[in-house]
Amino acid sequence: MSSVLVDNIGELVTNSPWEGERDPLGIRRNVALLVEDGVVAWIGPTRDAPAADRRIDAGGAAVLPGFVDSHAHLVFAGDRAAEFAARMAGEPYTGGGIRTTVGATRAASDDELRATVGRLRAEMTRQGTTTVEIKSGYGLTVADEARSLRIAAEFTADTTFLGAHVVPAEYADRPDDYVGMVCGPMLAAAAPYARWIDVFCERGAFDVDHARAILACGQAVGLGVRVHANQLGPGPGVRLGVELGAASVDHCTHLTDADVDALAGSETVATLLPGAEFSTRSPYPDARRLLDAGVTVALATDCNPGSSYTSSMPFCLALAVRELRMTPAEAVWAATAGGAAALRRTDVGRLARGARADLVILDAPSHLHLAYRPGVPLIRQVLQNGVPQCRP
Ligand code: NIG
Ligand code: FE
Repeated sequence: MSSVLVDNIGELVTNSPWEGERDPLGIRRNVALLVEDGVVAWIGPTRDAPAADRRIDAGGAAVLPGFVDSHAHLVFAGDRAAEFAARMAGEPYTGGGIRTTVGATRAASDDELRATVGRLRAEMTRQGTTTVEIKSGYGLTVADEARSLRIAAEFTADTTFLGAHVVPAEYADRPDDYVGMVCGPMLAAAAPYARWIDVFCERGAFDVDHARAILACGQAVGLGVRVHANQLGPGPGVRLGVELGAASVDHCTHLTDADVDALAGSETVATLLPGAEFSTRSPYPDARRLLDAGVTVALATDCNPGSSYTSSMPFCLALAVRELRMTPAEAVWAATAGGAAALRRTDVGRLARGARADLVILDAPSHLHLAYRPGVPLIRQVLQNGVPQCRP
């Protein structure tokens, strides 16, 4: 058995409040945390800390659960910086650039795709992310979707089959045939490597009937449901997700009262992706409205080469506070425990006995600094399963 003691923690965000405690962050002050075999074994006052094989002195800084980035598209090739520049000069975002990335991804070798995922995963780790979900969706052939998921599965257990990202050009005039292929041979090839299924349910991508059919096929082979919904305009995606018991509906930028009510009465998490609104210069979603209605909110990066090419959860957290009207505490919870809820994971997103020892030591005395000091590299050290990952 190996043990590590993280000692001298000024502020520990546990996301595990005591019974009756009001603050969902469950903050403990002046404590130490013992890791045994990659799992949190003990939390208590620094002066009572047990001996361990190794000691890490947090120096009075804040420690929080590693970020859980529950929405990322990392398996791709190519670059769409020119599309970003055109948007900043006034062009709208339509999702049309997805097909550009599909072309580049199909032409790339396995090793090139693997190198890109590895590079982005490493960027994420340096910025405090310890759990990431990775989608396919830039292959859109049976072979290219299967290899995207096979490569994604080398990096995470939370892999998502997004064969229904857009209808590829070769099926443009026969979308029903494409949906049949997604539900048939593509799903069969993808499912062994996937935990989740997702559909881009939006005007210009998949309508509600196609989305329902694809998600139901995925459920029938044991995949959990997530939906890209209500990103570019109002629509039925959020309510479809709730109807199917989705773990999460993502984007939620354009919501009606009926959408908010449906979410509030459900177990479905609303995952907000403010990096996408930033990079497409679009109106931000209103997190305050969702939180006040009692909806569980998560924050994620949506890291992809088109609508949101950031791997930084601290950046998204700062945007959420400034632009989505979340408090710093709500944003920290949404980026950790909220992401875990969106992935239906109970082993991450919190620091309590039995949880995975995935944690971040900040170069700051409090979690407030993540939003208070935007753009500043505040991640001093990251432990994954109790193992130090990097010192940026
Ligand atoms: O989540 N909305 C659909 N998919 C991605 C964008 C993909 C792209 O533009 O390449 C998203 O924003
Ligand atoms: Fe996305």
